[in-house]
Amino acid sequence: MKEVSPDTIVYFDNRFVPLREAQVSILTHALNYGTGVFEGIRGYWEEKEQELFLVRVEEHYHRWLRNCRILRLELPLDPAQLTKLTSELIRRNRFCDNVYVRPLAYKSSARIGVHPDDKDAFAIVALPFGDYLDSRQGLHAGVSSWRRVEDNAIPGRGKICGAYVNSALAGDEARRNGYDEAIFLTEDGHVCEGAAANIFLVRDGSLITPPVTDNILEGITRASVMELARREMGLEVIERRVDRTELYIADEAFFTGTAVEIAPIVRVDDRPVGNGKVGLVATALRQFYSDAVRGRLSAYRRWLTPAYHDARVAAA
Ligand SMILES: Cc1ncc(COP(=O)(O)O)c(C=O)c1O
Repeated sequence: MKEVSPDTIVYFDNRFVPLREAQVSILTHALNYGTGVFEGIRGYWEEKEQELFLVRVEEHYHRWLRNCRILRLELPLDPAQLTKLTSELIRRNRFCDNVYVRPLAYKSSARIGVHPDDKDAFAIVALPFGDYLDSRQGLHAGVSSWRRVEDNAIPGRGKICGAYVNSALAGDEARRNGYDEAIFLTEDGHVCEGAAANIFLVRDGSLITPPVTDNILEGITRASVMELARREMGLEVIERRVDRTELYIADEAFFTGTAVEIAPIVRVDDRPVGNGKVGLVATALRQFYSDAVRGRLSAYRRWLTPAYHDARVAAA
């Protein structure tokens, strides 16, 4: 992935500044101890409408603020205000491309000592962003030897910075072993999720995905895919515990996430999933999702916030 231009405008310390001016001390609490909570939001540029659609942005901010409560991080803005701020960030950068938005709330004291205090800060960065993984031909995934962090250790649902050491270890191991991506098991051996994505299986025409009580991140793409599968394809969607060997006998498998979107998995642990090719359900869901996030399906326009719209209305 390309280096981000230092001229990119970001929101930092309650104002818009170029990225090069958004600096923190090396003693920052979150940098030393992982005490931050982040989000990942995508925006899709639709050439025909000359519009950039932020996807389920208010829901991402609701999740962010809820997760901040886990670390007792307090932010001064509500989801509607954060959404407005994000649209303005897009406009200030004049982005006419697909983007990724990274909000980050963090314990900002610059001192030694792991106990956190009440000094909190946040920043929002937006940058042009293409494919996170090239999954057109389907991914090869490997079950990680690293187990997923437990809710009672570092809650995975919290999108807490420090918990991503777990994902980094698993992702690194997977790539070194020749896989494209890792699949985590829970401490008690059930299928959990990818390093930065939720996971679905297709078995006998039903979609199956691990429950939110199995240490997963409560994915927003996961919710979108469940809705698309039910409404557009009439599929049954079952949230239940998933055994490891179900990965080997499933008809299809795929990851979902803001960054990975819908990424089919065609091999797990060197065994083909189904016939070893990208499956029909994943292909159909990918098309529905791609159309929905670009504003091409009216039923899902409610998911989208047009970043340029407000400014155009004001200028008219
Ligand atoms: C560990 C983990 N699981 C799942 C997801 C997918 O969540 P969402 O669809 O809300 O992006 C992510 C996204 O970054 C993640 O980091």
